[in-house]
Amino acid sequence: MTPVLSIRDLHVRRAADGHEVVRGVGFDLAPGGVVGIVGESGSGKTLTCRAALGVLPAGFTVSNGSVYIEGRDLSTLGSADLTSLRGSTISAVFQDPASYLNPSIPVGVQVAEVLRVKKGLRRRDSRHEATELLAAVHLRSPALVYGQYAHELSGGMLQRVLIAAAIAAEPRVLIADEATTALDVTVQAEILDLLADLRERTGLALVVVSHDLAVVAQLCDEVLVLRDGVVVEQGPADRVLHHPEHEYTRLLVDEHEQYGLDRFLAHAEAGA
Ligand SMILES: Nc1ncnc2c1ncn2[C@@H]1O[C@H](COP(=O)(O)OP(=O)(O)OP(=O)(O)O)[C@@H](O)[C@H]1O
Ligand SMILES: [Mg+2]
Repeated sequence: MTPVLSIRDLHVRRAADGHEVVRGVGFDLAPGGVVGIVGESGSGKTLTCRAALGVLPAGFTVSNGSVYIEGRDLSTLGSADLTSLRGSTISAVFQDPASYLNPSIPVGVQVAEVLRVKKGLRRRDSRHEATELLAAVHLRSPALVYGQYAHELSGGMLQRVLIAAAIAAEPRVLIADEATTALDVTVQAEILDLLADLRERTGLALVVVSHDLAVVAQLCDEVLVLRDGVVVEQGPADRVLHHPEHEYTRLLVDEHEQYGLDRFLAHAEAGA
């Protein structure tokens, strides 16, 4: 089966100083598959995701390697093709959902807008389908939420709205870059369940970037461990997280266990 997303020996270069901030990242993502990317802050996770979406920030270029989406080499596509691919084949949700929504337009209208632009739906149909999407991401009272503004919703609700917008055009790949990091633990678990559910029902493939190794362990089939732009370890999630071969991965896992323990102790103290 053709991978929906295939990255080969990706290098990303920063023009300002010529530094390659990503060096040699590669993986294949099959339909319904989930790849996780972990690594310390600044290791190149987000730039890898942005290269996959064809939206590197200004001053960064793919200096080597390739990104294939459904077998099509991104570098050969014009900007019109890229734009139509984005949203309809590959889509993304990031941290801080509020910054991706227009504060002065009801959130449902913004989801409906995606349906009009990407699927060519008419106004009335787009409203109906957007409301269904809001229900599909498990927002209670979707018809009510449709007419609400970003400031009226909680962080967890906003992230669900963003996921609804991201899956509106039925993409085959969804990139979730720290999508649940800012949310509290319970809401985070609900959003992860939602992603797992989408994967199961629709065969959506996921790229999951997270600092939280528990999140990665729960969702991913394969994990890449990035350090300073280089993959130091890559393999089945169970193997990499439970029997890390590289010292850096071992460090991340140890740190995580430490952090998990601290978090537990903090809770215990608060409850005492
Ligand atoms: N817009 C930018 N301008 C300049 N340097 C940048 C920019 N974005 C990223 N970088 C640099 O590129 C490298 C990789 O950044 P990237 O954002 O991919 O890291 P990350 O792994 O996503 O980190 P985090 O876990 O903090 O999100 C870092 O050294 C970072 O400082
Ligand atoms: Mg990042």
